[in-house]
Amino acid sequence: MTKLETNYLGLTLKSPIIVSSSGLNSSAERIQKYQEFGAGAVVLKSLFEEQILQEVSHLEQYSDYTEATDYLKYYVQANNVQEYINFIKTVKKAVSIPVIASVNCVSDNQWLSFASRIQEAGADALEVNIFYLPLNPSRTANEYERVYCNVAETLQKIITIPVAFKLGSHFTNPLHVIEQLRYRGAKGVVLFNRFFEPDLDIHGMKVVPATIFSNPSDIRYTLRWVGIVSHLIPEIDISASTGVHDGEALVKMLLAGANSVQVCSAIYRNGPQHIQTMLQFLTEWMNQKGFKKIDDFRGNLNYGHIPDPTHYERSQFMKYFSNYE
Ligand SMILES: Cc1cc2nc3c(=O)[nH]c(=O)nc-3n(C[C@H](O)[C@H](O)[C@H](O)COP(=O)(O)O)c2cc1C
Repeated sequence: MTKLETNYLGLTLKSPIIVSSSGLNSSAERIQKYQEFGAGAVVLKSLFEEQILQEVSHLEQYSDYTEATDYLKYYVQANNVQEYINFIKTVKKAVSIPVIASVNCVSDNQWLSFASRIQEAGADALEVNIFYLPLNPSRTANEYERVYCNVAETLQKIITIPVAFKLGSHFTNPLHVIEQLRYRGAKGVVLFNRFFEPDLDIHGMKVVPATIFSNPSDIRYTLRWVGIVSHLIPEIDISASTGVHDGEALVKMLLAGANSVQVCSAIYRNGPQHIQTMLQFLTEWMNQKGFKKIDDFRGNLNYGHIPDPTHYERSQFMKYFSNYE
């Protein structure tokens, strides 16, 4: 009998598929459906730091940006913090799979004290999604990265539930950042977040939002780093995110060493039953290969387990594909 159980952040998940933080997880009924179709856990849609700060009347600091302030006020009215706490409680009552709360933040300030309320509400873990665009040319990368470390350090003192950091993909040295977070108590990393991006409408001559959904080919950057991190920092758990659209991508991420994968765009596109389709593929593949459980093959093709690790290191087309015409 094939077992799909996996361990992520010290939690036992009945399958390695986690439904990513997004509007997909905005109702307990939908989350029940994901559970029925085999999801191992869900990450609730994010509570934004701005929402938390609004509760303590700090929104004025954003008042330089009129549009942002208007948006935040609207957003805050619609989604106050207490609603989020109540939502965690409702979802916890409705499902038995782990429920991971999510905070989207830009600083290491006051919002942190709120983390204990998330824990008290019953969340099984907290995913922290830090993102700010570095728009200050005189601030160093180190200064920006310090925010991540401060958040991890403070959370370690405030809460006992496991914490995962959902990281962007643009660090100069992701390994250093991940190691620093692990040292400060982080149990896991989500590699990688996919941010909202602008595009240009060359006919209408304006900036427009780019497509919000990923493509299957987007897994490759994630795949490289999952393969490297799982070997070089094995003490931290990895949830692979961005571009995981089907069963094959799920198998690839597990072979690269992920403890779980997060799926968002593919569920938006194909509906919740897609979770079951992906798990069926995984089960059939495991049966074909004679694997009884995930740990029989997890990480078998990571940076440390392949005969030629340079496959993970190659990055210059010029050097390796110069004969390709
Ligand atoms: C409509 C939409 C809303 C999202 N909202 C959040 C959010 O609130 N918090 C968060 O951390 N990520 C959010 N994300 C990012 C997803 O969780 C995920 O990291 C990203 O879409 C990449 O995964 P995918 O390739 O499976 O789509 C959102 C994505 C989409 C498409």
